[in-house]
Amino acid sequence: MGLTSLLDLELAVPAPDELQAFWEGHGMRVTGPGMLGSLDRPSLLRLREGAYRHVAEMRVACETESDLDAIGRRLERLGLAPVRGDGVLRCPDPILDHTVVVQIGAAAALTPPGPRSLNRPGRPERLNRRSTACLGHAPHAPRRLGHVVFGTPDVAASRAFYVEGLGFKVSDSIGDMAYFLRCSPDHHNILLMPSAVPCLNHYALEMDDIDAIGLAGAKVLAQRPDCSITGIGRHVVGANLFWYMLDPTGGMFELYADMDQIVDDEKWAAEQFRDDWDPFTISRWNSSAVRADFFAPADIDAIAKARAAAGR
Ligand SMILES: [Fe+2]
Repeated sequence: MGLTSLLDLELAVPAPDELQAFWEGHGMRVTGPGMLGSLDRPSLLRLREGAYRHVAEMRVACETESDLDAIGRRLERLGLAPVRGDGVLRCPDPILDHTVVVQIGAAAALTPPGPRSLNRPGRPERLNRRSTACLGHAPHAPRRLGHVVFGTPDVAASRAFYVEGLGFKVSDSIGDMAYFLRCSPDHHNILLMPSAVPCLNHYALEMDDIDAIGLAGAKVLAQRPDCSITGIGRHVVGANLFWYMLDPTGGMFELYADMDQIVDDEKWAAEQFRDDWDPFTISRWNSSAVRADFFAPADIDAIAKARAAAGR
């Protein structure tokens, strides 16, 4: 079958303690030195100190040893030199510089949220009782790392690395400008989009539902009133509800829910795949309010300078 899931990210930032304290304050669990987990998963983010904000490592999972063999052969055909260890393959991303680690296994299953019934016109489901959304509702903190969006100076080469090398599948694209890729049933676990320099555009954390997004986002906003980038909205591509905000290091994160799931690759490719999406219609609602720093991080010049200083 190949890849099964996105596991976690190692983020290098100038002040990892500050980022750890932020996420600890918003419900993540400190599960080890610099490691932040959730109810079901010990690691969503691993933090370490770095001169500038970037992804240092991304871990994904595959099913079997023979999947690792096949991935290794495909990467070698692209002229790369993956390193095999015990049940693990490591390969530097040739464009974005971070290391991709593929390991055998799958991300831990998630504890489902409690039942939620909706009263819609002509279809009332919640009768003679109050909604859990407003009474005693304590939604879970972020449940898992769902996707990562990378800005790349060479979209075609990045696509080749992730699709032809690692085996990600293309769910949708914006022409040949941006690609939504998956390594699990999620509509996308990676989005590749153009950028003058390699950068992390955002990391996305799955929440239970719109109320969980609203409650968690409002709590962040109460502490840091200028941190909302855009949201709440619903993406057109992938269909996820979203709220984009800045963490204390200036990194954008997304709280999201209700993303399209793809379990039949051929059916999706035949009936749903599109490559003609409009890059600027990011939401079914209110796309005109999207700020420029949704598309390129406000600290992109600082990232470029720091990369140059590091000889990259
Ligand atoms: Fe996203």
